[in-house]
Amino acid sequence: MEARRIAERVSLLGAVDWDRRLFDALIPLPDGTSYNAYLVEGSQATALLDTVDPTMTPVLLRQLERVPKLDYVIAHHAEQDHSGSIPAVLAKYPDAKVVCSQKCKGMLGDLLRVPAERILAVEDGQALSLGDKTLQFVYTPWVHWPETMSTYLVEDKVLFSCDFFGSHLATSDLYADEGRVYMPAKRYYAEIMMPFRNIIQRNLEKLKGYEIGVIAPSHGPVYRRPAFIIDAYRDWVADEPKNLALVAYVSMHDSTRLMAEHLVSALVARGVTTEQVNLVNLDAGKLAMALVDAATIVIASPTVLTGLHPAAAYAAFLANALRPRAKHAAYVGSYGWGGKPAEQLASLLPLLKLEMLPPVICRGLPAEADYAALDSLAEAIASRHQGLVAAGVA
Ligand code: FEO
Repeated sequence: MEARRIAERVSLLGAVDWDRRLFDALIPLPDGTSYNAYLVEGSQATALLDTVDPTMTPVLLRQLERVPKLDYVIAHHAEQDHSGSIPAVLAKYPDAKVVCSQKCKGMLGDLLRVPAERILAVEDGQALSLGDKTLQFVYTPWVHWPETMSTYLVEDKVLFSCDFFGSHLATSDLYADEGRVYMPAKRYYAEIMMPFRNIIQRNLEKLKGYEIGVIAPSHGPVYRRPAFIIDAYRDWVADEPKNLALVAYVSMHDSTRLMAEHLVSALVARGVTTEQVNLVNLDAGKLAMALVDAATIVIASPTVLTGLHPAAAYAAFLANALRPRAKHAAYVGSYGWGGKPAEQLASLLPLLKLEMLPPVICRGLPAEADYAALDSLAEAIASRHQGLVAAGVA
């Protein structure tokens, strides 16, 4: 795609990756993604803000053919989907300097062997004049690596936020269609930002000091109504979860499925919004999105070799790593001859401050008493959700 203007002498470069389906050998990309780079041409100097994934280097170099001189490459973040083409850009422009945070300098050396003498490390709040345009650097750590910073273009009120506020969404739209981008942005938050919820709260507070007219992230479309994505983030990082129970289940011979489905029905009957996720062929992003809002996590799994089914153990491992704001958890499942899956589930969630509710465990097919126990569990969950606001589950 050709460069597209977002302000006077400020344009979006980069590549739309329509076909990519997996990131970090982990994260599903049902909607593809984009790697956004931006060109800011001041009266005295020109800066490229971020580059693109190394697979797309030729696309960026083609876009730069019309740029005879480049003074700076701003590296907001050392991860290769944005920094990976820096060596090629530096080779094309032998006088250009990379500008990044202090922490990022070392990481660019480690990850890409960028020579230290080509890097200018800047402090939080430092400004760089391009003549009639001024770049002000704003440290925004842990969105989602420790070195990450954003750039505020003072004269045009554009915030270049890198991964912060981004979305894995391949689209030809320059500006966000808010109805379309909401779920990809939430998925993106859930997958990589959620573990740093508390620090993101502080970053959002910090951004209140800037008059932002446009947010230009490095994945997905540009936001010309910043309040849309800022408010969404405020909602996702708030301390209180929503009135949502996640029931993540796997079943081998249907006994556990019957338990999970009964529990879901009992929860809904008690006014608890419930998301039922089958852990077989799991879309980890879908699980992560449910974890953003859930006040209660229920893992339903049969006993396999005395413990959880591996698919359930993986879900618990992910939940622990993503550190959602859930407050309660429970184990539900069927067994054949014995084991300790409930204890194993608790041991897999050490980073979460969870109240473990009494498990519901049954031998073989659930019987009347087991369904009654599931009703009691639903009652216990519903009573704990009193006062929580409704979940906006799509
Ligand atoms: Fe889009 Fe953390 O890189």
